[in-house]
Amino acid sequence: MNRLQNKRVVITGAASGIGRAAAQLMVAEGARVLIADLNADAATRAASEIGDNALGIGVDVMDESSVATMIDHAVAEFGGIDVLCNHVGGSNPRKDLDLLRLDLAEWDKTMVLNARSTVVASRLALPHMIADGGGSIINTVSVAGLAGDTLQCAYGAAKAAVIRLTQYIATQYGRNNVRCNAVAPGAIMTPALRDNLPAEAIDDIRSHNALDLIGDPEDIGWAMVYLASDESRYMTGQTLVLDGGLTAQSPIAASRRRLLDQ
Ligand SMILES: NC(=O)c1ccc[n+]([C@@H]2O[C@H](COP(=O)([O-])OP(=O)(O)OC[C@H]3O[C@@H](n4cnc5c(N)ncnc54)[C@H](O)[C@@H]3O)[C@@H](O)[C@H]2O)c1
Repeated sequence: MNRLQNKRVVITGAASGIGRAAAQLMVAEGARVLIADLNADAATRAASEIGDNALGIGVDVMDESSVATMIDHAVAEFGGIDVLCNHVGGSNPRKDLDLLRLDLAEWDKTMVLNARSTVVASRLALPHMIADGGGSIINTVSVAGLAGDTLQCAYGAAKAAVIRLTQYIATQYGRNNVRCNAVAPGAIMTPALRDNLPAEAIDDIRSHNALDLIGDPEDIGWAMVYLASDESRYMTGQTLVLDGGLTAQSPIAASRRRLLDQ
């Protein structure tokens, strides 16, 4: 119940999906949470649904001055920041294709949305964490950052950059008691997944998971609670993979399973 008592948290992209679930779980564990999202109305709505310890604010993580306003707001409301979740990410799957057909403007945008935004928000939050004796930065990446795929090469490359950036932040600020870890979800049933993938494609992903499951937002939210809490005080620079066993298996396990079932 009180795993995050007195923690002051900022989560970007928290008006829906995984970020919203994380915000709700963190408030239930005693944190105060700033729900920051491009959709300011949805952020305010989510905060009022979650309760008094959640606040909503509009932010565009691609715009440094907007991120600075978000950080200032958190410090003004909470008196500091203990946990920053750089959760916004993604790419346009209609433009982020294989290398030859990739729209270069989409490459640039994807790098800013996923990687540069993480640098910008972390740089603005770090001085507050250091001044208060430490903190935890949690970056949301993806299994797409761990291996190659047929499409979305900008997304995969941007998430891989954030995985390595996570280690750099952990290395450079560990002596300030700032930890930095990442969560790497596999397929999670959110509006982003539902809008971008047909049902057959989602079934296909499930067939490649070791567990006969597609994750829910809370499956990632609980990992974020752990990384935000002092329970993970000895963990930094790591990427926690929550993917139903997709990347634990040999790549031929799914077809072997199908053959054995026949
Ligand atoms: N859903 C999945 O299956 C899955 C899998 C792997 C990784 N992820 C990662 O999880 C994170 C979020 O995914 P989700 O499934 O919760 O998505 P979602 O679409 O449910 O929520 C994303 C939120 O981010 C907000 N947003 C978009 N652009 C923004 C910007 N420029 N500034 C501020 N807010 C912005 C949106 O308004 C939305 O509320 C991303 O980093 C994504 O790469 C998701």
